[in-house]
Amino acid sequence: MAATSSPIDQLAQRVEGLTLQNVAAEFPFTHVDVNPYDFWRAHLTKVLNGITGVDPKIIYPTINWTSSLDKGDFMVAVPAFRIKGAKPDVLAKEWAEKFPADDPLFEKPTPTGHFIAFFVRSKPLVQTLVPQIRKLGDTFGRNTYDGLRDASDPSKGQKKILVEFSSPNVAKNFHAGHLRSTIIGGFLANLYDAAGWDVFRINYLGDWGKQYGLLALAFELYGNEEELQKDPIDHLYQLYVRINKEKEAEIEEIEALKKEGKDASELEAKSKDEQARQYFKRMTEGDEAVLARWRHFKDVSITKYKKTYARLNVYFDSYSGESGVSEEAMAKTAKLMEEKKISKEDNGSVLVDFQELVPGKEGKRLGKTVVRKRDGTALYLTRDISELLNRAETHNFDKLYYVVASQQELHLRQLFKIIELLDCKEIAKKCQHISFGMVLGMSTRKGTVKFLDDILNDASEHMHNVMRKNEDKYAQVANPEATADTLGISAVMVQDMRGKIINNYNFDMEAMTSFEGDTGPYLQYAHARLCSIKRRADLSEEAIASADLSLLTEPHAINVTRMLAQWPDVFQNTLKTLEPTTVLTYLFRLTHIISSSYDQLQVVGSEEEVKKARMALYDAARIVLANGMKLLGLSPLERM
Ligand code: ARG
Repeated sequence: MAATSSPIDQLAQRVEGLTLQNVAAEFPFTHVDVNPYDFWRAHLTKVLNGITGVDPKIIYPTINWTSSLDKGDFMVAVPAFRIKGAKPDVLAKEWAEKFPADDPLFEKPTPTGHFIAFFVRSKPLVQTLVPQIRKLGDTFGRNTYDGLRDASDPSKGQKKILVEFSSPNVAKNFHAGHLRSTIIGGFLANLYDAAGWDVFRINYLGDWGKQYGLLALAFELYGNEEELQKDPIDHLYQLYVRINKEKEAEIEEIEALKKEGKDASELEAKSKDEQARQYFKRMTEGDEAVLARWRHFKDVSITKYKKTYARLNVYFDSYSGESGVSEEAMAKTAKLMEEKKISKEDNGSVLVDFQELVPGKEGKRLGKTVVRKRDGTALYLTRDISELLNRAETHNFDKLYYVVASQQELHLRQLFKIIELLDCKEIAKKCQHISFGMVLGMSTRKGTVKFLDDILNDASEHMHNVMRKNEDKYAQVANPEATADTLGISAVMVQDMRGKIINNYNFDMEAMTSFEGDTGPYLQYAHARLCSIKRRADLSEEAIASADLSLLTEPHAINVTRMLAQWPDVFQNTLKTLEPTTVLTYLFRLTHIISSSYDQLQVVGSEEEVKKARMALYDAARIVLANGMKLLGLSPLERM
């Protein structure tokens, strides 16, 4: 075998009559170079076509993966072959019998009922996958064909996706909804990036509305530039809380006066509420002085946000925000909505009544909503409408995800419907709400959560305490603080992504920071252990690459490889489910199998050739685990 040919080329040489060119020509949707299992499927399709006469186009998509290794590597459901009149279980038996016993890639299959399970032959699998994974390294699993406008012609360019996520409100709590949006949105952006899309990450800050007039006023009254620079999030939050309290007290006072029948107009005129209203009015009218101050708040906040997001490996291409939606743009949309009879006047305000516009249940569910208040101010929805039209004008996007808590489901439905009614069906079709459930019981030890940092610091501290409990191990950690920080962040993220995103979950500090069970620290530990094996084996890359992989014959070695071979399929499936748990479930299955192999497959202490071969296997496992973790947004630790 030529040393230069790739492991996949060498695989193809084992199979008579099937070349990589054949596969590409006959199954143009396959990509053997990034997903080796596509070759196995193509071959299986050919063999089954020979046995059954069924069109390969029908056979290929019926080849499914299995839920556990004991059920095989692939399986087909006979009824999916659409053969009329025949009993599927009889056919299953017949076909399995006809399957050649000397097939180069598959063992003789076993039928169960309507199904036939296929197990891959271990030798060609191990000899192809292990070197291929090591060759592709951190790109193994990625499939960038998905993002091409034309998969056979990269010059036609990439598809574009806008992912809007995180989107906290300046000076307000960074609540659990924002945490989830940040984690899930970051993951989705990574996913599409790895699938070859042009990804544009948007943080649509809540930074506009009367409450921001109030905040600016608070700064004028009690603000301190030095403190703002030092900790903008905290300072603005404190100001906001303080002035809100005062505002509420005034309102109470005014109400009390009114109740007693006294004149409250003087108090009302100079109240914080009224001053804030006026301040905000100046902001909407484009008063440069107040706007400059407002931009300054935003800038210092964004600087701080960026630092925290970096801890989660999250970044944005644009911090847009509600304030970026111009009054002119909204006036233009308002006119359009009026012309198309989508909105109507009602007692001075402008509203959209979906019950009149959309027939049946859907209209009822969408209800009625105001888009312009009587005093002329625009609302959250008004801004979202103009912002979406603006995004469509600025970006030629194929998809736009709104990663927002399920509480805003109605809001986003209304938004998409209005866009549709504005004769922008094509835009509406590209939009999708990525809806997720609540986090229950999230608070930090110091009380309420002010910002993302508070949550992460708390988890990091907790993790540090967990680590200290094992004194011997703790003493060996070179950089315990940084390690605890990464572990704590992984704990938070994995707990968040563990279940289907639409489900609520309990924020459980004890459970998430445990090294046992399916947690972030467990995954990190599994990764660090693989790294440590490599360090201790002390073999050069060339030595590992020269390993004789036919020495990997133990069931554990074969099963680890079978799991590794699935990773590109798992990636592809994740693009369909859009669920981080698809990745996590796989990573936990993989790490369980790996950790059960350590006793059987020792590296250090084994005979030199065996040592090399096992090291190659563990190295491939390390690569896949790291790739999965990075896709989720975790930073794999090399030591701990
Ligand atoms: N800032 C909003 C909030 O905290 C979330 C923004 C969601 N995105 C949107 N385009 N409306 O509730």
